[in-house]
Amino acid sequence: MADEWRPELYDSKLGFVSGHGEHVIGLLQPQAGEAVLDLGCGTGELTARIRESGAHAVGIGKSEAMVARARSKYPELRFIVADAESPLPEAMVEAFDAVFSNAALHWMKAADQVLAEVWRCLRPEGRFVGEFGGRGNIRTVEEAIEEVLLAEYEIEASAFHPWYFYSLGEYAARLEAAGFHADAAVHFQRPTALPDGDAGMDYWLESFAKPFVHAVGEKESGRLFRLVKERCRPSLYRDGRWTLDYVRLRFAAHKPQRG
Ligand code: BEZ
Repeated sequence: MADEWRPELYDSKLGFVSGHGEHVIGLLQPQAGEAVLDLGCGTGELTARIRESGAHAVGIGKSEAMVARARSKYPELRFIVADAESPLPEAMVEAFDAVFSNAALHWMKAADQVLAEVWRCLRPEGRFVGEFGGRGNIRTVEEAIEEVLLAEYEIEASAFHPWYFYSLGEYAARLEAAGFHADAAVHFQRPTALPDGDAGMDYWLESFAKPFVHAVGEKESGRLFRLVKERCRPSLYRDGRWTLDYVRLRFAAHKPQRG
């Protein structure tokens, strides 16, 4: 699929995504001198925050446009275009003390492949700490997209879904099947207010729901998003702002010592 990310829009209108990642850095507790991989680094905001702790942070992301922006914002840091659903470069094998990920893993539907790559990148005792969308995440938005595609276009949305939202039990089982020791996990609702009043939902859809446009074609994109927005409004728009029904899955795991 073409690179559909829009880094300027992401940084100017969706800064809350990295803002929420601060809590995940708190769980990671990066230490000076550690090597930390930021998996799904976006435009590098949290990679840079991890670096502030004195850790050597490296960001990887699948989108060339997002990584290019991260490099231009933080030229002193290393960012690599790489897809963790495929084998990562050999140079990364056992090169990290920790792998961190915020708001990215739900975009990587081949979770077992990703976990195998995280495992390969970590040294023994290395930590894997992250947060992503959990079961039930943005259900109102998902249902609105599904209903509009079916009612207005007679299209089944399932083939176009870019995300997968795990339950706590499912993901913990995947972690353990990959060899990790799951240390902690919590699944919780985190209603998330969008900035920019009524336009906030337009920016969100334009940034994150683009894969569904493939179902209807670019010319229909405006109509599709308008209909989705109006279907969501009664549940998610109040007092001049959108609050999306985010649900998070936050976890900490580690790769046990060999033997
Ligand atoms: C999330 O962070 O939960 C999310 C963001 C964009 C699309 C879907 C989910």
